[in-house]
Amino acid sequence: TPHLQISPSILSADFANLERELGRIADADWAHVDVMDNHFVPNLTLGQPVVEALVRVSPVPIDCHLMIEDPDRWAPGYAEAGARSVTFHVEAAADPVATARAIRAAGARAAFAVKPGTPFEPYEELLAEVDMVLVMTVEPGFGGQSFMADQMPKVRAVREAAKRRGTDVWIQVDGGVSLDTIGQCVEAGADVFVAGSAVYGADDVAARIAELRATAHA
Ligand code: DX5
Ligand code: ZN
Repeated sequence: TPHLQISPSILSADFANLERELGRIADADWAHVDVMDNHFVPNLTLGQPVVEALVRVSPVPIDCHLMIEDPDRWAPGYAEAGARSVTFHVEAAADPVATARAIRAAGARAAFAVKPGTPFEPYEELLAEVDMVLVMTVEPGFGGQSFMADQMPKVRAVREAAKRRGTDVWIQVDGGVSLDTIGQCVEAGADVFVAGSAVYGADDVAARIAELRATAHA
């Protein structure tokens, strides 16, 4: 698979030095930015003004993961802020079709995310409206949690549905992705890999990104 992509999550980076921390992942495909609002998840990170600032200094495109209530209202603003991919949670969206369309109309790739307890099947029709599906492999809210291998059948189900429909949707996995777990994600059909602690916890961040790539392709 030639198109496997690495999207390091800056949630595990030094928030006092985000420009420098983005510079350390210049060899990645994306920078994954986790937006949390203390309501959809019990944690609070950053919002649109900070995303706008990150877009200005990032060497790689911004992959924005919105863990917020009312994404229908807020998601298009992140595309307008310059995020090249905007992911919202289906559990929080009142009108996911309209939200996906608004993200695309604002010039970004659109994606929907499902938490570990959320099945994919009810959202299969949404594949027609998005460029990517994010299958969470931890409960959203915090970095450094253990990978949930029991989510791999869901990744397979998304891959099979996409094939059946002939749409070339990307499948992202997020949570506990590491050198030990990336292989089973590839095997299940994922092609975009978010890694926070596995990347920023390494002494040599660039080398770890290269190792993740090599392991994914192995
Ligand atoms: C968790 C976030 C993830 C997080 C992953 O809710 O969505 O992006 O940063 O961190 P790791 O890779 O450490 O599990
Ligand atoms: Zn994330």
